[in-house]
Amino acid sequence: MALEKPYPIFLSLSLALLLHSVVAQPSKNNIISLGTSLTAVENGSFWPSTSGDFAFGFRKIEKEDGFLLAIWFNKIPDKTIVWSAVLETTGDALVAPNGSKVELKSDGLFQLVDPKGDQIWSASPSGNGTDHAAMLDTGNFVLVGHESQNLWQSFDHPSDTILPGQVLHSPAQLVSRYSQNNFSRGKFLLRLQDDGNLVLWTTRYPTTSANIPYWESNILGDGFSLVFNKTGFIFVQNSNESIVKDISSYAPSTQVFYHRAIIDYDGVFTHYIYPKGDISSAWSIFKNIPEDICQAIVEYPGSGACGVNSYCTFDGGMKSCRCPDGYSFVDPNDVEKGCKQNFVPQSCDETSSQAHLFNFSKMQYTHFPRSSYDYFKAVSEDWCKQVCLDDCDCAVAVFRDGECWKESLPLKNGLIDTAFEGKAFFKIRKVGSSALDPKNSHVKNHRSKLIIIGSTLLGSSVFLNLLLLMASSKLVIYWSGHNNQEDPKTSSSRPRINLRSFTYDELVEGTNGFTEELGCGSLSTVYKGVLPDIPGNLVAVKKLKLVNETDKEFEAEVSAIGQTHHRNLVKLVGFCNEGEHKLLVYEFMSRGTLASFLFEDQRPSWHQRVQIAIGTAKGLLYLHEECNTQIIHCDIKPQNVLLDDSYTAKISDFGLAKLLKIDQTVTTTTIRGTKGYVAAEWFKNKPITMKVDVYSFGVLLFELICCKKNFDMNVEDEHKMILIDWAYDCFHHRRLDLLVEDDEEAQIDMKKVEEYVKIGIWCIQEDPSARPTMKQVVQMLEGFMDVRNPTDLPSSENQW
Ligand SMILES: *[C@@H]1O[C@H](CO)[C@@H](O)[C@H](O)[C@H]1NC(C)=O
Ligand SMILES: *[C@@H]1O[C@H](CO)[C@@H](O)[C@H](O)[C@H]1NC(C)=O
Ligand SMILES: *[C@@H]1O[C@H](CO)[C@@H](O)[C@H](O)[C@H]1NC(C)=O
Ligand SMILES: *[C@@H]1O[C@H](CO)[C@@H](O)[C@H](O)[C@H]1NC(C)=O
Ligand SMILES: *[C@@H]1O[C@H](CO)[C@@H](O)[C@H](O)[C@H]1NC(C)=O
Ligand SMILES: *[C@@H]1O[C@H](CO)[C@@H](O)[C@H](O)[C@H]1NC(C)=O
Ligand SMILES: *[C@@H]1O[C@H](CO)[C@@H](O)[C@H](O)[C@H]1NC(C)=O
Ligand SMILES: *[C@@H]1O[C@H](CO)[C@@H](O)[C@H](O)[C@H]1NC(C)=O
Repeated sequence: MALEKPYPIFLSLSLALLLHSVVAQPSKNNIISLGTSLTAVENGSFWPSTSGDFAFGFRKIEKEDGFLLAIWFNKIPDKTIVWSAVLETTGDALVAPNGSKVELKSDGLFQLVDPKGDQIWSASPSGNGTDHAAMLDTGNFVLVGHESQNLWQSFDHPSDTILPGQVLHSPAQLVSRYSQNNFSRGKFLLRLQDDGNLVLWTTRYPTTSANIPYWESNILGDGFSLVFNKTGFIFVQNSNESIVKDISSYAPSTQVFYHRAIIDYDGVFTHYIYPKGDISSAWSIFKNIPEDICQAIVEYPGSGACGVNSYCTFDGGMKSCRCPDGYSFVDPNDVEKGCKQNFVPQSCDETSSQAHLFNFSKMQYTHFPRSSYDYFKAVSEDWCKQVCLDDCDCAVAVFRDGECWKESLPLKNGLIDTAFEGKAFFKIRKVGSSALDPKNSHVKNHRSKLIIIGSTLLGSSVFLNLLLLMASSKLVIYWSGHNNQEDPKTSSSRPRINLRSFTYDELVEGTNGFTEELGCGSLSTVYKGVLPDIPGNLVAVKKLKLVNETDKEFEAEVSAIGQTHHRNLVKLVGFCNEGEHKLLVYEFMSRGTLASFLFEDQRPSWHQRVQIAIGTAKGLLYLHEECNTQIIHCDIKPQNVLLDDSYTAKISDFGLAKLLKIDQTVTTTTIRGTKGYVAAEWFKNKPITMKVDVYSFGVLLFELICCKKNFDMNVEDEHKMILIDWAYDCFHHRRLDLLVEDDEEAQIDMKKVEEYVKIGIWCIQEDPSARPTMKQVVQMLEGFMDVRNPTDLPSSENQW
C-alpha cells in the first residue's frame, strides 16, 4: 500500500491551510472552566472541541453496566474512541458506574468520582494552578495553567491510539484492548523503549509482562520519540529531530482525512484514515505493521498469533483465526481462545488397533513453526502420514518435500503461509466410526436443520457421498487444487462447510413473498430477506432459474461454494433445495453493487477505488489459487462486486458457472460472461482458463480508475465510447490526466494512476498467456512488484 511519491502540491496546500488556522483567532467554545462537571448517563452531554471533530465525556460500554471516560471522533457515526482513562493498577480501562461524575473542581483538581463521591481517578495528584481545561481540535484534552502552560494532557497518557500531532517520548507504550468492543487490557504492546527501539510485543496474558517481540525498528539511540506529525506521517526521530525510522509515510492529507494509528486488538499496528465529512464512509487501512502478523508471531512459550489448535490467516490488513476440519472454537464469541477437537482422540492404549479409525484432512501451506515434537528427513508423504497414524500423540503430520514433522496437541503457532510449499495433514476420526463423545458433539448444540458437512459427526451423510463423487468425477470447472499429481481421492481435503438448509416456506416468509427485488439476471433473481437467526438478520436470496438440474448436482455445487471463505467473497449462508425450488441464501451487502457505487450518485474517492481494486483482485486470487477447488468466475463485472458496510469489495456469483450448465472446455454459443467484459477466447476455439477472469478484471480496473462504464453510448466524443480503447489511447499519447479529469485526489497520485493503467493494459492482452496471473496482479496493485511498460501492444510476443 505504500505510495511511491509524496504529494508536493497537496503538502504545500495543507501547510498553507495549517498556517491559516494557526493565525485565526481561537474560538473559546471548547473551554471548560473551573467548577464544571459531566455525569455518566447514557447519551449524556459531552465537551466538544471547537470544530466538533472530537468530544470528551462518558461512553456507555456495550453489554455492560458502566461507562468509559473517553475521547472520541464525534462527527463519525461510530464515534470511534481514541483515548480512555486507564486504571493505573491493572492497566485495564477504567469502568465508571452509572451516575459517576467527572469534574474540574474550583480548586483546579480534575477528577472522576463515583456516585457516592469517592475519587476513582484523577489527572494529577493536585490541581494546583489549573486555570481551565480544553478539548482541542487535535483530539488532545488539556489542563491549562494560569500562565497558559500545559499541566496535563491526554496525549501524554495514550491508551491504544495515537493521533496526528501526538508525540511519545521514550520510554512510552500503547496497550491493545481485548477485542473490538471490550476495552479491558489486551495481549499486545507497542513500546518505544528507553534504548530507542520501537517494538511490538506479545504479552504473557493475563499477566502484563512482555513475552516475544514480533516487530522492531532495530534502531537504537537516546532521546528518541515516536511522532505522528500533523501531515499524517508516522516516524521515529532522534533528539536532533531527524527521522531515524519511517513507520508510515505519504499518507493522504489530514485536511481531507481523519487519521488514527492504533495497536489493534489483533496485534497489528494500523494507520487508519477516514474521509472527513462523509458520514457513510468507514475507516480504511493505510498502513499496517507487521506486514503479515501470522508469520511475524512465532512464540515459545505461547500459542502464536491465534489461540491453540487454530490457524492464522492474514488478509487485507486483518488477522483471522480459524479452526481446522474436525475442530471448533472453544468460545465462538472469542475466537482467540482457540479450538478444540470435535472427536474422541486416538486412544494410546490401543494405538495400533485404532489407526484404521482415523483419517487425514489436508490443508495446503499450513504449518506450525516451533511446535513440532518430532522430525524426519528424506521420507515420503505416505510414510509421514503413516508414522502419524501409528502414534497416538500425533495430531497433525506436516510434510514438505521429503521433510516430515509430527505435531501434538495443543497445536501452536499455526498459520497459512503461501511461501511454505508444504501441507498439513490433520488426523481426524473417520465418519461412521463409533466412539463419538456426545459431550463434545457440535451437532447437539444446533438445531436439527443445521447441516455440518465435513465434521466427522454425520453418520450417513448424503452430502459426503456426493462430495466423494465430486472429488472423483472429473469436473469441468473445478480443477483439483494444487497437486494434480495425486489421486484425487486422497488429495481432496474435507470441505469445511457450515451451511444451513432452508425450507421454501421459510424463505417465502423471510422475503415477504419475494417482494423486494435487489437485482435480476437472465438466470436468477435476487431478493432481500430477513431471517431472524442469521447474524445481522438480513440476507440476499437468489432464486435460480435452473433447467434439468439434479438435486445431486445442485448440492455438490452448493457445497463447493460453501467451502470458500475469504474476506473478499460474499458468503453463502445456506440454500433451499425442494424440487423445482433451488435457492441460495447469501449474507446481505448493505452498500449494494460496485456498479451503482461507481456510476451513480457521487464519485467514490480514489483511495476507496484503489482499495476496491485490491480487494476484488484478492478475492479472485483466492478463487483461482487458494481455495480447495479452483473456481473460475467467468462473469467479473461491477454488478457482481458487492460492498459491505465498510466498503470492502466482495465478489458474488462465483461458482455458478457449473450450476448454470455452461461447459467451459469447448467453445459454446452460450457465453457466460457479459458483453464488454469477456475475453476473446470465448469466441474462438480456445480453452477457457482463469485468464478470462484476468481480462474481465482489467476492464473493471479501467472502470475503477476512470469512474466510467466500459461502454457508454451516451458520451458525445465517440473516442470515449469504449473505455479500454480510449484509456489505451491516453496511455499511448501520455495524456493519462484526461482519464482522471475533475478528480483532484487521483490527480495528485498520477504515479499510481499510471501504474494501474499499465496493469489494466497487461490484463486485457488478447493472448491469455501474456496476461499476468491474479497473484501477480495483486502484487503489482499493492506496489510489491514493478509493472513493466506495455510497449508495442498488442503483439502477443510481448510477454508481460
Ligand atoms: C442512546 O442513543 C442510542 C443511539 O442513538 C439509542 O439507541 C439509545 O436508545 C439511547 N439511549 C437512551 C437511554 O436514550
Ligand atoms: C442510570 O441512572 C439513571 C438515574 O439514576 C437511571 O435512570 C438509568 O436507568 C440508569 N442507567 C443504567 C444504564 O443503569
Ligand atoms: C501550589 O502552587 C503554589 C505556587 O506555585 C505553591 O507555593 C504551593 O506550594 C503549591 N501547592 C501544592 C499543594 O502543590
Ligand atoms: C472483556 O474481556 C475480559 C477478558 O476476557 C473479560 O474478563 C471481560 O468480562 C470482558 N468484558 C466484557 C464487557 O465482555
Ligand atoms: C511531517 O513529516 C514529513 C516527513 O518528514 C514532512 O514532509 C512534513 O512536512 C511533516 N509535517 C509537519 C507538519 O511537520
Ligand atoms: C545532534 O546534533 C549534534 C550537533 O549537530 C551532533 O553533535 C550530535 O551527534 C547529533 N546527535 C545525534 C543523536 O545525531
Ligand atoms: C479419508 O480421507 C480421504 C481423503 O480425505 C477420503 O477420500 C476418505 O473418504 C476418508 N475416509 C473416511 C472413511 O472418512
Ligand atoms: C432436460 O433433460 C431432458 C432429458 O435428459 C432432455 O431431453 C431435455 O432436452 C433437457 N432440457 C434442457 C433444456 O436441457
